[in-house]
Order: sequence, then structure tokens, then C-alpha cells
Amino acid sequence: MAEDEHGGELRTANSSDRSVDSGTALVSNDAYEDPGMPEHGHRVTDSDPKKEKNAARVITLLFWVSLACTLFAMFAYFIWPIDREDITSVRLHSFLLGAGIALGMLSLGVGAVAWAKYLMKDEELSEARHKTGASPATAQRVTEIFAKANDESGFSRRKLLRNSLITAVLALPLPGIVLFRDLYNGNNEHPVDLLHETMWDKGVRLVRDPSGTPIKASDVTIGSAFHVIPETLTEMHHGEEMLNAKAKAIVLLMRLPEDRLNEKPERKDWSYHGIVAYSKVCTHVGCPVALYEQQTHHLLCPCHQSQFDVTNHCEVIFGPAGRPLPQLPIEVDGEGYLVAQSDFHEPVGPTFWERRHDYNV
Ligand code: FES
Repeated sequence: MAEDEHGGELRTANSSDRSVDSGTALVSNDAYEDPGMPEHGHRVTDSDPKKEKNAARVITLLFWVSLACTLFAMFAYFIWPIDREDITSVRLHSFLLGAGIALGMLSLGVGAVAWAKYLMKDEELSEARHKTGASPATAQRVTEIFAKANDESGFSRRKLLRNSLITAVLALPLPGIVLFRDLYNGNNEHPVDLLHETMWDKGVRLVRDPSGTPIKASDVTIGSAFHVIPETLTEMHHGEEMLNAKAKAIVLLMRLPEDRLNEKPERKDWSYHGIVAYSKVCTHVGCPVALYEQQTHHLLCPCHQSQFDVTNHCEVIFGPAGRPLPQLPIEVDGEGYLVAQSDFHEPVGPTFWERRHDYNV
């Protein structure tokens, strides 16, 4: 018997250790019998040169398929470009690009695994490990250290002190649990109802955020975008209630060439000479949709890159958002100022809350 540098006992392999190469050291283990290795199964590719050749051919083919798929993905990018007027082209473009890359990676992976499994050298190796448990001497030493620490700290002796400490430690996570109360909104209202009603109402003027200046239709030039709030909001005291109301009612106002708007017949009168207003609260998880791309008329949410097409009622054209941004119907009053026709016709904000009802217009 010999002892390694960690105190583990080693013995040299002998003729009875059938699974181990000669000269390899083994850990002595009295409690368990070494089950050894199952008999090594030989692969057909080792014994039959014809099958080995076939395997090599198939694997080579897989690598070529991978290359072809990768090239296809690149060609698909150019041959089926995104036509911004046609949502089908966006889907086709993404599908072909994704399919090409995915198949390219898949065939490459399958080929590499098959190469390793069927053609690379099939040799079993075993490596000795020393015993994982501590030696009796080490175990004894550790026990002594613990006993000494216990004695010096008085942990077992001072029961009141110890129990107070344990109680204090157990109580520590409780504030985290109490924070869950924030999920309760205090008046038992369902989130759909809370998000379904905002401060917009018939005749409420659209004013600039944060100055509160009303906006005339003539102020809104083509390509411009305004961050807008209801005028009634400016009359509220600055506080939590006002901020909550603002978070729901915030709107983006844009003007497009009228012929660029593909308006549904039932929403034809929701815009005013190309001026449209949409909720700024992203329908994914509620970030403010703040970036307006004038050339494409796309709105971009910076949080997870959802994109909305303003020409098509803010339909989602990219990203995780599940539904279009809600539209605020607008018109002008007798003095030429932009006003709301009503509140939104659907809840603003994350799609999740909208699931309880069908608010499709
Ligand atoms: S919150 Fe807008 S994309 Fe996630």
C-alpha cells in the first residue's frame, strides 16, 4: 500500500484488474467491489472497410450539405428581400434565412458527431481516481477543529443566543416575500380594467409632453412626431396618481402622406389628413416605444426591438410584441386643435393583460 499526496490509499493494478491498463494505479475500496467495464463492442466501421468508406462518404456529404445551406441562406437574403409594403415578404425572408442557417448548422453538427462516433479511433481508456473521502486522520482533525470552534464560540452552550441568531437568520428573507404585496393593486381591479381606461375622452385636447401646449393640425408636418398627453393630465397634481395616469395615456402623434396609410374602412375617420395617434406603451412588456423612423414609418421599441408599421395600424412587423399598438381616434375641434374622439378602444400595454377579453376592433 502507498499513500498519495492527499492521503488517499493507492494500490498498483495487478492481473485481477482486468479493465485497467497495466501500471495504472487504483484506489483501494473495501466497501464496493469494482464492477469493471462492460465488454468493449466493436463498430461495424472497424471491421468492415466497405462500411467505413460509406460512413466517410455520408459524413462528407453532410459537410457539403451544410455548405450548401449556408450559401442558400446568403442568397436568400438577396433574392427574397423585405418588401416593406408586404408583410408576407418579411415572413418569407426571415423563414428562408433562418432555415438556411439552421440546416447548415444542423448538418455540420450531425456530420461532426458522426465522424467522432464512427470513424475516429475507437479506444477505451480508463483513468484512476483516488478516494474522494478524507483519510481517517483528516476526518479526525476536522472533527477536532469543529469541536474546538464550538467550544470557543459557545454555540451549543449559549442556547438563548444561538436560538436568537437562528430566528433572526430565518426571518431575513421575509421582506422579500412581503414585496409580493405590490402585485396587489389595492382595489381589486383586474389589470385589464385598469389599462382599458385612460384619461382620453371625447373632446380632450392633445398637448405636447411635457410643456402642455395644445397642438393644431397645421403644426404637424409630414414626417414629424410628437410625444403627447391629454390636456386634462396637466391639471392634475404632480404625484403618483398623475404619473400612473400619464403612463397609460402617453401617445405618439405622427403625420404621414395620406396615400401611405392603409386604413381599415371602420377606422377611416380615426385619423386626420394623415395625422395618426398611437399608444406609446409597447404591447410586449410596456416599455415606451420612442423611436420613429421617418423613411419607413416604423416605430421601434428599444427594449426588445419590436417594430410596428404605422402605415398599417401599427401592426407588429418584427420582435416579440404580440399585437399592434392601440390607436387613439382623433379629430380637430372648432379652433383647429387636435382632440380625441374617445378613449382607446382596447387596453393599452402588454398583451398579456388583454387576454381576458376580445377587444379587437
Ligand atoms: S417592451 Fe417593447 S419589445 Fe419588449
